[in-house]
Amino acid sequence: MKDQLQQLRERALTQIAGLMDEKELADVRTRILGRKGDLTGILRGLKDLAPEERTQVGQLANTLKSQLEQEFDRAEAALRERAERAKLASEFIDVTLPGRRSLSGRSHILNRVTQELIQVFAGLGFQLAEGPEVELDYYNFEALNIPKDHPARDMQDTFYFSDNVVLRTHTSPVQIRTMEQQQPPVRVICPGKVYRRDADITHSPMFMQVEGLWVDRNISLADLKGILTAFVHEYFGPHLNLRFRPSFFPFTEPSAEVDIQCVICGGSGCRTCSFTGWLEILGSGMVDPALYGFVNYDPEIYSGFAFGLGVERVAMLKYGIPDIRLFYENDMRFLNQF
Ligand code: FA5
Repeated sequence: MKDQLQQLRERALTQIAGLMDEKELADVRTRILGRKGDLTGILRGLKDLAPEERTQVGQLANTLKSQLEQEFDRAEAALRERAERAKLASEFIDVTLPGRRSLSGRSHILNRVTQELIQVFAGLGFQLAEGPEVELDYYNFEALNIPKDHPARDMQDTFYFSDNVVLRTHTSPVQIRTMEQQQPPVRVICPGKVYRRDADITHSPMFMQVEGLWVDRNISLADLKGILTAFVHEYFGPHLNLRFRPSFFPFTEPSAEVDIQCVICGGSGCRTCSFTGWLEILGSGMVDPALYGFVNYDPEIYSGFAFGLGVERVAMLKYGIPDIRLFYENDMRFLNQF
């Protein structure tokens, strides 16, 4: 038995020397010193020894046990310290490294241009008005002098929810909603999103318009031209060429579209302006007296003009952007330029 104890001692010391972590240590300790461990196994033979040898071997076993306990404790402390040091090393923070800047949000360029447009028209005395994007057919078409089955409905490819509810195709319904609620003088600007089944480099299925309406006594075509020219020169600069081109809208008479010289090619013709040298930015005209019947205004007393401009077109011209789809692709390299 003495030899067995000696062998156990050597085996235990070798194992303790090779321990890798505290879990392994706990396993080995149980296997050697535990209640069903190797040492207990050897001591089961004590009862077969002669009494004096039993005492001697018993003492040897006790000494071995406390020696091994000490060795396990020492190894445990060393392993714990090693693990602690490794943990600290892995959690090291180099406070001298430069910080990482967090991304901050900003307004989308189209919202910024909308705000700039509102500012320009506010300076010309216009107040803000708003209306819903999901609109009744009545406001989007009928009260704007476009009855059901009228061919003019084909001018705007419409997304229908039902026969009577549409995604508004323009901001002009806000004209009717505003006039329904107040008598002249009315001088409002109405920004917002509009929707059409339409997509190419200058047309987007969702885009933004800013509508303007001024109704009062003695408002004439000269006022319309004066306000829109003032706007173009204020926003794009006093030297940019613009032209009023006769047009047709069911809700204005006479009507005109306003084109601005293409800033991409300087007017010589390019893909963006379809090689015409001009880009249309808005539709306008004198409010058709037929509309006044829908809102109880007296056409003998009042007259007015209205216009609707495309915010994307204005932004494209202002910043020289050749393709409308860039606004909606969420490419940060594009958006961060502004
Ligand atoms: C209208 O929407 C009329 N409601 C404008 C108006 C208001 C006329 C008041 C008279 C009185 P039009 O369909 O032409 O008109 O659109 C106006 C502007 O919106 C255009 O000049 C153009 O700049 C822009 N636009 C039209 N369709 C799109 C589209 N799919 N994508 C981007 N911009 C567009």
